[in-house]
Amino acid sequence: MLAVVGAMQEEIDLLEQASTITERQTRAGVEVLRGQFRGVDLVLARCGIGKVNATICTQMLIDHYPLDKMIFSGVAGGLLPNMQVGDLVIASHVIQYDMDLTAFGRRHGELPDKGRTIESDPALVQMAADAYDAVFSGEAGGPNLMLGTVVSGDRFIQDPDTLRWLQREFSALATEMEGAAVGYTCDLNGIPFVVIRGLSDTAGSEAASDFSANLSAVCQNSFRLLERLIPMAAHEHAPAMVRVAGAS
Ligand code: ADE
Repeated sequence: MLAVVGAMQEEIDLLEQASTITERQTRAGVEVLRGQFRGVDLVLARCGIGKVNATICTQMLIDHYPLDKMIFSGVAGGLLPNMQVGDLVIASHVIQYDMDLTAFGRRHGELPDKGRTIESDPALVQMAADAYDAVFSGEAGGPNLMLGTVVSGDRFIQDPDTLRWLQREFSALATEMEGAAVGYTCDLNGIPFVVIRGLSDTAGSEAASDFSANLSAVCQNSFRLLERLIPMAAHEHAPAMVRVAGAS
């Protein structure tokens, strides 16, 4: 079963409205919705803001629901100068940028025995990019798509110096507050995941007001991508299920 998670209600609202919800349960303070989206069985959750909330929600979903993959969808602050509000970023990798063991000679974001980069599931990344192409390619004025590293930390970035640091230190495209926590937890549990972000702001001095002004509109772009991606992701078979013709 597929889980779709967002941090805020706006980030899951359109999907919730478009789904037939058959069950609502609250676990660990998170309301979990079960239902169908265009015939696909889904678990839908709003995890709340930040890495702790995202971790608790992700582990709770994995423990209580028969999940085989997870999509995190929400907004982020873009870190490159030519980015536009509304553009979409698919995280090929996530890093928790505020993990700081530099006092022990480690790089920012690095944990002992773990490295610092967590890779999204390549098949889900590919499907999300294909979904973007199917929905937006050729659309005048549509969002751009970028694939690359998304960084997460427990801080809303509204500061040109920090955004420059995040871009240069981590080669990051966007910053947000949950993706690496979801990725880390999925990785530890062997659950394939992908993080998809629409850009609500560019993490500079106007970020908070841009965020508030753009949140709903940007979530429409993400929803259009999810509409196409969810059936693709749900019907993809796990590698162990694929049978080779002629094999016994
Ligand atoms: N989510 C959306 N914009 C953000 C920003 N500038 N910093 C952190 N998280 C965000």
